[in-house]
Amino acid sequence: MKYSKYITSAAGLLGMGALLVACSPAPVQESGYAFATPETQAMQDDDFSNPAFMWVDTGEEQWSTVDGEAGKSCESCHDDPSSMKGISTKYPKYSKDDKKLRTVQHQINNCRTEQMKAKAWKWESDNMLGMTAFVKNQSRGMPLNVAIDGDAAPFYEKGKEFYFQRRGGMDMACKNCHIDYPGMKIRANVLSNGMPNGFPTYRLKWQKIGSLHRRFRGCNKNIRAQPYKQGSDEYTNLELFITDRAKGVAVETPSVRM
Ligand code: HEC
Ligand code: HEC
Repeated sequence: MKYSKYITSAAGLLGMGALLVACSPAPVQESGYAFATPETQAMQDDDFSNPAFMWVDTGEEQWSTVDGEAGKSCESCHDDPSSMKGISTKYPKYSKDDKKLRTVQHQINNCRTEQMKAKAWKWESDNMLGMTAFVKNQSRGMPLNVAIDGDAAPFYEKGKEFYFQRRGGMDMACKNCHIDYPGMKIRANVLSNGMPNGFPTYRLKWQKIGSLHRRFRGCNKNIRAQPYKQGSDEYTNLELFITDRAKGVAVETPSVRM
């Protein structure tokens, strides 16, 4: 009871009104799909009505587009896009070269700058969102399964610390919403477990596809906490932590959310 009062005042501060309705608690580690409205689910279920596929198509086009001084495309080295099958389930992944984690986006840009001698793509650009969605879509239906041991362990620990750290004007941690209250309704939104399995996702609110780190920024801003940059170490470590929380949850990229 104490906690629901807390959340209600938090929601009030957010200008969301005190329209919190307690539903039956959902089991942990369920895809955000399970909390979505039937309309959003239907949009995601049909690739032809899922607007995110406009970006997947961009990615597919880029796959075989030659760019950069080396005169290569992704296809020159990786052949068929099916070679990307499974990639989404094991990223973020430790890189010996970088001595830190790489997300799929970091890896794509590494191939662009090092292998293709082409310019890096901006994180939230249509090309990067498109290629990330296209690559991750090859793993659709496969269970997430990142490595958090060995070299990845210290980065996992940092991500975990971030997740449980209260911050911002509302002094809340990710955990306070996504572990404590899945199933609770905040206006039109039903709180989910905050899973990464559908990203990049098409958000009706954004009217376009967006990255997981964009979503992190939004969640940080909603509690009046400092957002970090897309691709930053902070958000990359956080991505590893939540991807491990989502262990076994199937890749849905590209999902549709409110
Ligand atoms: C000149 C060859 C070359 C080109 C062109 C190239 N890559 Fe790569 N790519 C590699 C090599 C080599 C690796 C593995 C070594 C590494 O980590 O850099 C790799 C690794 C990857 C991985 C990670 C695979 C894994 O198992 O973890 C992804 C994802 C990827 N590339 C995507 C792309 C995309 C998308 C493009 C086009 C934008 C691209 N690559 C262009 C050579 C290339
Ligand atoms: C005040 C509550 C609140 C806090 C704190 C919060 N979020 Fe969220 N988050 C939401 C709401 C509301 C949504 C949209 C509905 C949903 O999927 O839960 C959301 C959505 C998400 C999603 C998208 C899930 C999907 O299926 O598309 C992710 C990922 C996420 N949050 C991660 C985080 C992380 C990481 C933090 C900590 C930096 C955090 N959130 C903090 C309220 C919160």
